[in-house]
Amino acid sequence: MRALCFGSLNIDYVYQVPHFVAGGETLAAGSLSRFSGGKGLNQSVALARAGLEVRHAGAVGRDGLFLLEELRAAGVDTGHVEVLEDVPTGHAVIQRTPSGENCILLYGGANRRITPAQIDRVLADCGPGDALILQNEISRLPYLAERARERGMTVALNPSPMEEGLLPLLPLADYLLLNEVEAAQLLAGLGRPVPEAEEPLAAALAEALPSTAVLLTLGSRGSLFTQGARLLRQAAVSVRAVDTTAAGDTYTGFFLAGVLGGREAEWAMRYAATAAAIAVTRPGAAPSIPSRQEVLAEMKD
Ligand code: RIB
Repeated sequence: MRALCFGSLNIDYVYQVPHFVAGGETLAAGSLSRFSGGKGLNQSVALARAGLEVRHAGAVGRDGLFLLEELRAAGVDTGHVEVLEDVPTGHAVIQRTPSGENCILLYGGANRRITPAQIDRVLADCGPGDALILQNEISRLPYLAERARERGMTVALNPSPMEEGLLPLLPLADYLLLNEVEAAQLLAGLGRPVPEAEEPLAAALAEALPSTAVLLTLGSRGSLFTQGARLLRQAAVSVRAVDTTAAGDTYTGFFLAGVLGGREAEWAMRYAATAAAIAVTRPGAAPSIPSRQEVLAEMKD
């Protein structure tokens, strides 16, 4: 199956800080690094490094041309990324602590300039043999998801950042990939109870979305997968984290590459957990994502 990732491309400015800055506080950063990022770009890189044929669609300004180089170097087709003259590329201001935790402030820039005309052009040659991978960092998501369903495409949605406007899109998704915070926000938005424990939380998602396969990521506690009455658990691979940025994107890309490539969900979860564990031992978003060969060697597959 071919993958079309229609998503954000960001320039990530990563500030090394002793702790996250608090309201009213002035804090000096120890260092500043610039990386390629954006949940869309990261997931395209992960899907391609995991072995899938990937096209990326989105928008950058002139200052973001190096992001296209990063995608091409990973083997991603960038023919559907538009370069806009009058708007800067999206960017993220990321604080990273000594334990590798991060917090992220987003500026949408060109990512918020996606138009129905661009969507129609991109989807023109897509059909049931294509999967559309979406996150929530670009404009016009409802139009995009609806047109993709009309064309019979498989739709995978990573509802991040989660917001109320995404709720009507949930029934359009074949795959939903999210973390615990997003899962709680989603259930609350649907007016449903939010269980605190992991497995009841996953079961509540399965009940709310009976025709969607759900991957719930739990950070250092691994992940759960539910589809109907089926519930699978994968433990995290234990490593010393340097930078957790894009760990979720790596997990998403490798899991989807596994299942869209015809593997069982159990194997895809192990593939994803191993890839994410390697990614957190390296700095940066897209540059930290491992290759298929590295991951398979670590899995001893
Ligand atoms: O998921 C990590 C990504 O979130 C970063 O690369 C940043 O750009 C934001 O989109």
